[in-house]
Amino acid sequence: MTKNTSKQSSANPMWGGHYATGPAEVMERINACIDVDQRLYRQDIRASIAHAEMLAAQGIITDTDARKIVKGLRQVEKEIADGRYVMREALEDVHMNVEARLTEIIGPAAGRLHTARSRNDQVAVDVRLWVRDAYDRMDAVLLDLQKALVEQAEKEASTVMPGFTHLQPAQPVTFGHHLLAYVEMFGRDRGRFADGRTRANQSPLGAAALAGTGFAIDRNHTARALGFDAPMANSLDAVSDRDYGMEFLAAASMTAVHLSRLAEEIIIWTSPFFGFVSLTEAFTTGSSIMPQKRNPDAAELIRGKAGSIIGALNGILVTLKGQPLTYNKDMQETKLPVMDAADQLYLMVAAMAGMVRDMQADRTRMAEACQRGYLTATDLADWLVRTTKMPFRQAHHVTGRAVRLAESRKCRLDELSLADLQAIESAITADLFKVLTPEASVNSRKSYGGTAPQQVRVQIKRWKKALA
Ligand code: ARG
Repeated sequence: MTKNTSKQSSANPMWGGHYATGPAEVMERINACIDVDQRLYRQDIRASIAHAEMLAAQGIITDTDARKIVKGLRQVEKEIADGRYVMREALEDVHMNVEARLTEIIGPAAGRLHTARSRNDQVAVDVRLWVRDAYDRMDAVLLDLQKALVEQAEKEASTVMPGFTHLQPAQPVTFGHHLLAYVEMFGRDRGRFADGRTRANQSPLGAAALAGTGFAIDRNHTARALGFDAPMANSLDAVSDRDYGMEFLAAASMTAVHLSRLAEEIIIWTSPFFGFVSLTEAFTTGSSIMPQKRNPDAAELIRGKAGSIIGALNGILVTLKGQPLTYNKDMQETKLPVMDAADQLYLMVAAMAGMVRDMQADRTRMAEACQRGYLTATDLADWLVRTTKMPFRQAHHVTGRAVRLAESRKCRLDELSLADLQAIESAITADLFKVLTPEASVNSRKSYGGTAPQQVRVQIKRWKKALA
């Protein structure tokens, strides 16, 4: 080896042709993304195999070389999986590590794999494949959460609890109905994930560095081999688009917001001041100092992690904002937030499903809570409208006076005497008392999508069929 070549060998073997020296140590560190790329080697190798087979089918490389490459790639995959090949930071990323190891195994034929492609289309392919799996995992775990909610809703279809607006007692509702509200939310979330998956499932491979290639490649071949719906139609878009990350995180953020709302409710319900539900030891933790504690940590962590997911969305949006076409190294920073958020969200949904199944409703406490807060005041007003044909506005006013009287007596509405009520409105009869119980209130709300147990059962039936 001449002095000159040995000096060149400290430059990057993949692109160091016109470099005389190697990078500064700190340059190597900031440039590398080995940690996150650890999780992309299967996708990277799968895409390389598809590429090599396409190159051979198109006569761009020989079948012999393609066979060597494919066999070698399978070996690299196994070595990485077994921990026998450890990626080197000096080789920056998964793409160059895989190729370097392939070169060690099969020799110069490895150099033909990079014909008609670039790391720019490679990374886009790899992360799309990863995100596609993440979409599928999200769908499965959200489906399980929906099932858990429907199971609880079925048990509690006719359990009466206070419904709230402004966190103030509003009207009685059924607990099953309340739980089904979340089944609807997570159903929309699954729809958003499914939608995002469709848009993500297009192949950038073959866009090469940015402009396409002069080689007679077949992009449909690789797209099909990798399970994509089609090759992306614009090479500049293919290498610079990160919508698959933004869109995944946007959908993930909405799911996280939904989860955090349910988490917050579980935190409120399990507070002894509410006592609407309890969690077993499986989903609570004790305190090292206060022996009486049963803290709903999983719910709090779900609420807290929602912040990180939204942060990841914000991060990727800001990272991409203003980047000129096409590929820029900034894009390397978009991989980790997507992968990390996918991991965290999966855990959040799984923990929520566990908690929902663990939850035990305290029907007595819920019924007791319905005795406070004049929850059936609207039913009184509705009775006046129905029975005396009074305009609702006037009925609202009459009811307000009845509530004020009950407040001053410190009693419930149904504890006022008929004479008291008639002093407020002479048209009131004893028949009114039938509508003042929480049970009568929920049973009456049979409008489509209403809280009546009968309606709740209709929706449970629909969901069970849809989720089966
Ligand atoms: N490691 C890079 C990334 O994750 C791959 C693409 C690099 N391309 C380049 N021309 N430097 O984005």
